[in-house]
Amino acid sequence: MMASLYDTIGQNYADFRQPDPSIERAIQDALGDATSIVNVGAGCGSYEPSQRSVVAVELSMTMIRQRPPGAAPVVQATAMVLPFGADAFDASMAILTLHHWPNKVQGLEELRRVSRGRVVILTWDPTYSGFWLTDYIPEVLVDDRSNFPMLHEYEQVLGPTEVITVPIPHNCTDGFMCAYWRRPEAYLDQRVRSAISTFSRLRNVTSGLQQLDRDLKTGEWRNRYGDILNRTEMDFGYRLIVAS
Ligand SMILES: C[S@@+](CC[C@H](N)C(=O)[O-])C[C@H]1O[C@@H](n2cnc3c(N)ncnc32)[C@H](O)[C@@H]1O
Repeated sequence: MMASLYDTIGQNYADFRQPDPSIERAIQDALGDATSIVNVGAGCGSYEPSQRSVVAVELSMTMIRQRPPGAAPVVQATAMVLPFGADAFDASMAILTLHHWPNKVQGLEELRRVSRGRVVILTWDPTYSGFWLTDYIPEVLVDDRSNFPMLHEYEQVLGPTEVITVPIPHNCTDGFMCAYWRRPEAYLDQRVRSAISTFSRLRNVTSGLQQLDRDLKTGEWRNRYGDILNRTEMDFGYRLIVAS
């Protein structure tokens, strides 16, 4: 059995990380007319197209156990060495997972090798800054920037890529880092934070969260950031990378 970070932090993943419909549409479009797809770092199966033939690859048994009944078949394996032949699928996809891989170039080469068509990756642009939470907890930005590849690094391995901005809806159902941008109280909930891997690596969040709690109570948060409460979706740096 392979041990992985998500065996520890993934316990309640499915409770807080449900696929978001607008992100799902963007991923489906990016996959084009591919009918056979490998979903690498698949977790509990979010964003796997139900009308197409999908095989999932996932490292963590804790995540595999949370895949719902009827989900695509899953292989427990690492993205670094995919157990498939060259060109085995019409497309490969990797959704919010690549920043965890120990050798990102090797993982990208594997995504390219097993797909005879598109490679679709949902990631975050480390040059982005502008999420209000990082005013309270700057370590979030530092940590994420040290893990997510720069966007130009994808095409160094995959060849020419299209980069598609993925706006995040105000009621996003996939509780990743910026998902609660219009629901600031959510970040005070330890269960919400436990489904966001960045928080598992940070040691000094208490004072920032206490300040957020105070600012929400006094109205200072609304004074500083209240204009976003009128927005229904916003760009927080999430990008689809599509290589053909
Ligand atoms: C943030 S979750 C995303 C899961 C899923 N793609 C989704 O969108 O909900 C990251 C996933 O990548 C998996 N993962 C991390 N490193 C991996 C590796 N080297 N090989 C395969 N999966 C890996 C984790 O176990 C976890 O399930």
